[in-house]
Amino acid sequence: MTPPPLHRVIYVSRSRIGGTEARLRAEIDAILAVARPRNAAENITGALLFTRTGFAQALEGPLAAVQATFERIQRDPRHGDVLVLASEPAGQRLFAGWAMADAGLVAGTHPLLSAASPAAAPVLTLLRDLAREAEHLPVV
Ligand SMILES: Cc1cc2nc3c(=O)[nH]c(=O)nc-3n(C[C@H](O)[C@H](O)[C@H](O)COP(=O)(O)O)c2cc1C
Repeated sequence: MTPPPLHRVIYVSRSRIGGTEARLRAEIDAILAVARPRNAAENITGALLFTRTGFAQALEGPLAAVQATFERIQRDPRHGDVLVLASEPAGQRLFAGWAMADAGLVAGTHPLLSAASPAAAPVLTLLRDLAREAEHLPVV
């Protein structure tokens, strides 16, 4: 049977998690602890990075699963102002093997992420590069 076509969503959002960097890191760990088994069960892969002020995330997988997961994520009170940079069919997985790679904390406010409307392609490249570095992703 042919697998369902792949879909990818890339978004940025504003963090509503206040407090110290340690608290932010703990909250990210809690998010990943829930996200990873759930994404694995839904055949979703991707990467999440955060700054002191916001998030960038890529989600890829079967369309229905990506949509359902992204709807839950959008309702999450830990962030807001979710801005979709891309939502489109994807030829291949860029985060194969990673139920949600931890691309880590980007110091300060990354210029790419603080732009009013960042372009999808450089954000995706940033996610891939940081996730590979942080998680030793295979180069594909
Ligand atoms: C920035 C951010 C990224 C998240 N990424 C995922 C994810 O990739 N997969 C996932 O299942 N939940 C993710 N979550 C958590 C969901 O918003 C939600 O809390 C979780 O899926 C449990 O949903 P439920 O309580 O409705 O069952 C993320 C939350 C935030 C704030």
